[in-house]
Amino acid sequence: MKIYVVKNNRLLGVLEEKNNLFYFSYEDDIKLTGYLLGLKNKENESDELFPIFENLIPESEIVSSIKHEHGISNIIGILLHLSNNNGSFEFYNKKDFEALTLIENEIVAYESVKDEVLQSKYTYPNILKDYSFVNIEDNKLHPKELNKLAQDSAIGLSGVQYKFAVSLDHKKKEIQFTDNKNDLYFIKPYNKHRCTFKRRGNNDNYIPYLLINEHLFMTMARDFGFDIPYNAIIKEGVDYHYIIKRYDNYAGIKFDHTDFLTFIGKASKYKYDIKFNELKEHVFDLINEDDTLELYKFLVFSVIIGHGDLHAKNLSLIYKSSSLYEKELRLSPFYDIATTKIYGKNVDSRDIGLNIASRVKKFFNRKDLIEVAGKMTINKTLAESIIDEYALRFLNNFKNLYVDTLSNEIKSLPFYRLKGYGRSDTLEVVLLRYLENRKKDIKKYLDVEIKKEEKTTAQMLFE
Ligand SMILES: Nc1ncnc2c1ncn2[C@@H]1O[C@H](COP(=O)(O)OP(=O)(O)O)[C@@H](O)[C@H]1O
Ligand SMILES: [Mg+2]
Repeated sequence: MKIYVVKNNRLLGVLEEKNNLFYFSYEDDIKLTGYLLGLKNKENESDELFPIFENLIPESEIVSSIKHEHGISNIIGILLHLSNNNGSFEFYNKKDFEALTLIENEIVAYESVKDEVLQSKYTYPNILKDYSFVNIEDNKLHPKELNKLAQDSAIGLSGVQYKFAVSLDHKKKEIQFTDNKNDLYFIKPYNKHRCTFKRRGNNDNYIPYLLINEHLFMTMARDFGFDIPYNAIIKEGVDYHYIIKRYDNYAGIKFDHTDFLTFIGKASKYKYDIKFNELKEHVFDLINEDDTLELYKFLVFSVIIGHGDLHAKNLSLIYKSSSLYEKELRLSPFYDIATTKIYGKNVDSRDIGLNIASRVKKFFNRKDLIEVAGKMTINKTLAESIIDEYALRFLNNFKNLYVDTLSNEIKSLPFYRLKGYGRSDTLEVVLLRYLENRKKDIKKYLDVEIKKEEKTTAQMLFE
């Protein structure tokens, strides 16, 4: 099978899979400086799919059902069925490619359009009320195959969320599925199977309100000063869907981005196994000092909130411009931020999904974080102040800014106890209990002296 790979609206080359071997060859007019990560020769061969492509394939269970539906028996065929590819990549078979007219776009610097692309100044909670779905049937939001598959496999939290591209029209209050490759948003529908508590039977998959969780912590990240795209939630039935604006598309001009795992050169299944040295060797040298500090702050933030799903595919670098030949990279906006600490034993309890401490461990202590700062050449005093300020800011603001502001409808959502024989708490109670537990852990592991935030120092850091 041959696939035509288009990038930045140009034919880059042809990907081929034959007898369990993979080949990629560039077009003659592509200059060496436009060659992709891990594909350094004009002709490339490998016995596994090149990570730059492998990491574009969603890990959602829906992939196996699309494969089944379209009779795809090889590995690369799925690329033709992806509707919301990362960055500017597009994949075509011969016939579709030949019918295509490619027009090169002007080259735009990401920094110059970033705020316009992100549109992150929404008010929390951002609930799209009375919006209607157009061309989105129930089976598109909740594919039967997905539920069936979910029952057969124990799903973790990460990389596996089903999603599809949509357009969002605030004037008409419409969320529309168009199959247009330039849609500026995508939706992660909630998975019914994860939010239904069974009075009898196995509840290992019970991970409710994941997308409310994501909206909450994405917003908190924004408020801490991190770049994140506009996002919102929409109620449907018993839970909420999540909509997010693409951070890599400016009115059809697309910016490529690559996750840390791809820079490291590993396949998706290794995303939780990444060590500090691998990041240092393959990622840190690609970014400037400001971004290194930003990344460190995000790691601290993630440990504080208990972002157990922070693995090497949930962090990315983005190219500075939309040119095919752009080589310089910046930290991309952040995405997929949630706490894993409210789901009990149903998800791994570790603080973050990266092994960046000197020993592999579940919980990070202050010493680990200071050591990481040292290795990232961040001044120790600065690192200490980031840990203290972030911890206090989180503890002092979580309830009033992120829980009390939720609607009563959300606060009172039932959250079943895993061993409660059908007894439930409310989401509000669960969030407040999470806060109490974080407080204990932050004191115990991060050795932060819990006190009311001192406005002056906090302001200094966040202004
Ligand atoms: N807003 C966005 N714009 C463009 N690409 C995104 C955006 N959010 C996530 N991505 C890309 O899509 C991938 C999957 O998104 P993510 O939110 O991590 O979903 P999941 O919950 O399935 O892991 C990410 O690894 C990232 O490369
Ligand atoms: Mg993810």
